[in-house]
Amino acid sequence: MISALLFLVFVRFSDVDGSGSGGGRQGQWQLLLNNTGVVGMHMTLTHHNTVIMFDQTGAGESSYRLRKRFNGSSCSRRTNDLRDSTCYAHSVEYDVGGNRVRPLRLDTDPWCSSGSFLSNGTLLQTGGYGSGATRVRLFRPCDDHQCDWKQSRKSLSDPRWYASSQRVAEHDRVVVVGGRGVFTYEFVPKRDSGEKSFLLPFLHQTNDGSKDGNNLYPFLHLSSDGNLFIFANRDSILLNLRRNRVIKRFPRIPGDGSRNYPSSASCVLLPLHHTDNFTKVEIMICGGAATGASGAANRGRFLTGLRSCGRMVITEDKPKWAMEDMPAPRLLHDMLILPTAQILIINGAKSGCAGYDNARNASLQPYLYSPNKPLGKRFRVLKSTKIPRMYHSAAIVVPDGRVLVAGSNPHGRYTFHKVTYPTELRLEAFVPHYMNRRYHSWRPTNLSIEYGSGGVTAAHGIGYGTEFIVGFLVRKKNIEVEFSAYAPPFTTHSFSMNQRMLKLRSKNMETSKDGWVKAIVEAPPSPNVAPAGYYLLTVVNGGIPSMSQWVQFTSASPN
Ligand SMILES: *[C@@H]1O[C@H](CO)[C@@H](O)[C@H](O)[C@H]1NC(C)=O
Ligand SMILES: *[C@@H]1O[C@H](CO)[C@@H](O)[C@H](O)[C@H]1NC(C)=O
Ligand SMILES: *[C@@H]1O[C@H](CO)[C@@H](O)[C@H](O)[C@H]1NC(C)=O
Ligand SMILES: *[C@@H]1O[C@H](CO)[C@@H](O)[C@H](O)[C@H]1NC(C)=O
Ligand SMILES: *[C@@H]1O[C@H](CO)[C@@H](O)[C@H](O)[C@H]1NC(C)=O
Ligand SMILES: *[C@@H]1O[C@H](CO)[C@@H](O)[C@H](O)[C@H]1NC(C)=O
Repeated sequence: MISALLFLVFVRFSDVDGSGSGGGRQGQWQLLLNNTGVVGMHMTLTHHNTVIMFDQTGAGESSYRLRKRFNGSSCSRRTNDLRDSTCYAHSVEYDVGGNRVRPLRLDTDPWCSSGSFLSNGTLLQTGGYGSGATRVRLFRPCDDHQCDWKQSRKSLSDPRWYASSQRVAEHDRVVVVGGRGVFTYEFVPKRDSGEKSFLLPFLHQTNDGSKDGNNLYPFLHLSSDGNLFIFANRDSILLNLRRNRVIKRFPRIPGDGSRNYPSSASCVLLPLHHTDNFTKVEIMICGGAATGASGAANRGRFLTGLRSCGRMVITEDKPKWAMEDMPAPRLLHDMLILPTAQILIINGAKSGCAGYDNARNASLQPYLYSPNKPLGKRFRVLKSTKIPRMYHSAAIVVPDGRVLVAGSNPHGRYTFHKVTYPTELRLEAFVPHYMNRRYHSWRPTNLSIEYGSGGVTAAHGIGYGTEFIVGFLVRKKNIEVEFSAYAPPFTTHSFSMNQRMLKLRSKNMETSKDGWVKAIVEAPPSPNVAPAGYYLLTVVNGGIPSMSQWVQFTSASPN
């Protein structure tokens, strides 16, 4: 299904760029749907190649009207029902191959919440608003379009609105950090009913007292030593989750302004590499809002956002920030790791901050950032979209290499008229340069994955540190063939939670005359490096990626 879709993508793409010259290096945009029904405020990709999107049950009328409520009663054309929020979907599942959406049921409000996948591919979504703030919801993806959200009977210890979550290495669970006025973290699922949340004074210390504190939706990354990196406002720490102890405090990021909600910079863990046994862990933060941006926006002044990015190797003895500038100021954007291990900076605005109608100057041009190029040569400006993607927009990489972009709604309800930035329901794909037809002969195709001879079967996934075989076909083989594994994120409010890429070691590659390659690839060494679960495996031939295939890394021993 995906390969058929990819074929379509290439054909359409070559129509656009049929000349075979120019343009291709900047990528292309495709309009996929005019109406996703629901604003793509939160987005994530399941291992069944569907994208879950949701916004808030309190938004009133969405653009997906139901004939029947989820409790079975029908929705009439009477005014009461037309205005009844329960007669509208507030979450949808988008089928990437079929290019269509279906409605999903939500019983409580997941507005401004967080999410992570468990090792079996079930999405664990945490928190939200009102009575939804302590809820845990599970989505177990399926192929028959019958699956739906299920609310867990167990609640969070604390209400979590604007919290972040991250998969941890142990016990197949998730840590949820912060929330509005909540200076704690907790694990889900709990190991026993007595387990509570843990105080985290760092969240209190970084709350700068202005409206919303500039430290909501803290940036979380699991370091490859199993500790949790937490960045809030301008400061960051390393937290030992086993001992509930802060074991490192990092220097403050240089420059003015703030980086977390409502200042809404974005943050990414740069790809981890087998060449150093995944021991070097580097994070990168870009953009954000000027000091006082929120107060100014409320008075109708939109302060220019931050242009700077900071990179820091958090595993060094004396970590320090290395600063550089983007081509323009930016906030409310997303940072995604492309299959090429480059960083795509997409969506957002140049001035103001997050919140209703608080930003101006839409950033229509994505940037491509190449982390390993020399300073000054790392950013490339890509093709503009025509659609502003402001507050409450998101983006997600899909297995064929495109990036889906949805949402934008800087209003409390769906508002299409008489506003600077109307509610946006169009779904677009950004088609990166590497999908250009001119690279076809470089693109590895027909990927197959054979699990090792050690009796590890597909049902159990690939064990840590074990070898597996990747077969593929390539017409022109480059000297540099790389293998990567990508954990798809849960993206909302400019932060892609759990996003992670590993460049894997390949030991031996046999190429036959007809272009078939068999490579022995080594799985990541431990769940600290790659928490158990589904990853997208990609073969990259001289910078041109294959379509990705799902693999599952697991600690469960086969029997
Ligand atoms: C979206 O709507 C426009 C204007 O009505 C139409 O021309 C276009 O074909 C539609 N596109 C899709 C993908 O439905
Ligand atoms: C279903 O929900 C509607 C709206 O909340 C309510 O009025 C109705 O009584 C419910 N029906 C059933 C069968 O629970
Ligand atoms: C995955 O695990 C969760 C939590 O234990 C469970 O609720 C869910 O049904 C499981 N999903 C699958 C696909 O087995
Ligand atoms: C990585 O680990 C292997 C096996 O433990 C070891 O032989 C090698 O020297 C290590 N390499 C680096 C760069 O640390
Ligand atoms: C935003 O747009 C306004 C009006 O066009 C312009 O004056 C201002 O310089 C822009 N700000 C930024 C940061 O681009
Ligand atoms: C490679 O995959 C394509 C698309 O799925 C298929 O049509 C083709 O037959 C495959 N080629 C080989 C040699 O298996």
